[in-house]
Amino acid sequence: MTATPHHAFKGPLGQEDMPYLLTPGPLTTSQTVKLALLADWGSRDTEFRQVVREIRSELLRLAGCDDTYECVIMQGSGTFAIEAALGCFAPSKRFKTMVVANGAYGERAAQILGRIGRNHVLVSKSDVTQLSPSHFTDKLDEDRNISHIWLIHCETTSGIVNPLGDLARAAKQRGKIFMVDAMSSFGGMHIDMVRDEIDVLVSSSNKCIEGIPGFSYVLVKRELLEASQGQCHSVVLDLYEQWKGLEANGQFRFTPPTHSLVAFRQALRELEFEGGVAARAVRYQRNADTLIKGLAAIGIRPLLDDNEAGPIIQTFLCPRDNNFKFEIFYDALRKRGFAIYPGKLTKRDSFRIGTIGKLDQDVMQRVVVAIKEVLSEMNVKDMAPAGI
Ligand SMILES: Cc1ncc(COP(=O)(O)O)c(C=O)c1O
Repeated sequence: MTATPHHAFKGPLGQEDMPYLLTPGPLTTSQTVKLALLADWGSRDTEFRQVVREIRSELLRLAGCDDTYECVIMQGSGTFAIEAALGCFAPSKRFKTMVVANGAYGERAAQILGRIGRNHVLVSKSDVTQLSPSHFTDKLDEDRNISHIWLIHCETTSGIVNPLGDLARAAKQRGKIFMVDAMSSFGGMHIDMVRDEIDVLVSSSNKCIEGIPGFSYVLVKRELLEASQGQCHSVVLDLYEQWKGLEANGQFRFTPPTHSLVAFRQALRELEFEGGVAARAVRYQRNADTLIKGLAAIGIRPLLDDNEAGPIIQTFLCPRDNNFKFEIFYDALRKRGFAIYPGKLTKRDSFRIGTIGKLDQDVMQRVVVAIKEVLSEMNVKDMAPAGI
């Protein structure tokens, strides 16, 4: 079965053959977000500056922020904002940052801290362990020099969702600065920075808001941002200077990704039209449920239990049948109009299917049918998961 093409543009670029992106971003976007790209915008133009203002205030509103928070946009992918936030807010002298990791993105944050020479401790859990306060409170009580905590909301390595409110509360009860990488969850799962006393949150343009790649952003308590003056290891990634520039005249210090920002403004309006984060979360959850149920019916098992897996990306265990080869599976699905994602687990053979983006239950049902057909074509019969 071939997927119905979802791109309106026909013509020399061949977009009509592009697959649905079943990935955690870049992801499938709406026609209207793509259409927003079809104009040239001057980076210092008054109307463009209005776009930037609208984006900054809408992001703060979505995160439940009050007027003690600021939004700073940073050019580049999500990791640019992560490195910027760590460079600006992670302490550099006596105090240190604790990274609590349960997957590759947590490990990477620790790697960045190491590279930029910031004191840190890494508490590393397996990529199938959902984080709980008990994983780090002892360490916090023991080492009084830990002043900051960094962790990941949805660890995209497996799709596991860590209980943000509980983790933030445990940190705040001990007076710590709480920083979260909500890259893959923000906009698709409810987050309230004021209620949960989250000091810093990082995400990017091509995730659950359903924009295109090009920039990332940091939502942060203003007092932290003010205190970060002169702290950043990098000129380009300096959030304080970036903020000062945006506040002074609404302009970026260096060339902004104009098209990406304009498309993102359109994506934000479409999020609102859909019913906000609550409605989007329901759609994503329905996508995930449809996929998991459909694949369970043919014997493909998800890695995580229901209460751990979020609606963002689903990890499935590869069948142990010798005829299963991920590359062949991928190519055959790609030909049918679906681009899936390889696994990233350290210990088990797996593949991932993103359930975010401009996708619905109907697309998910068609993915399930396509997977069934491809496995039969590959003569894969034994669906039991490959061992550890
Ligand atoms: C949780 C998380 N953190 C960080 C990143 C890195 O973002 P980027 O690849 O845009 O730099 C990703 C990317 O998917 C992610 O899911």
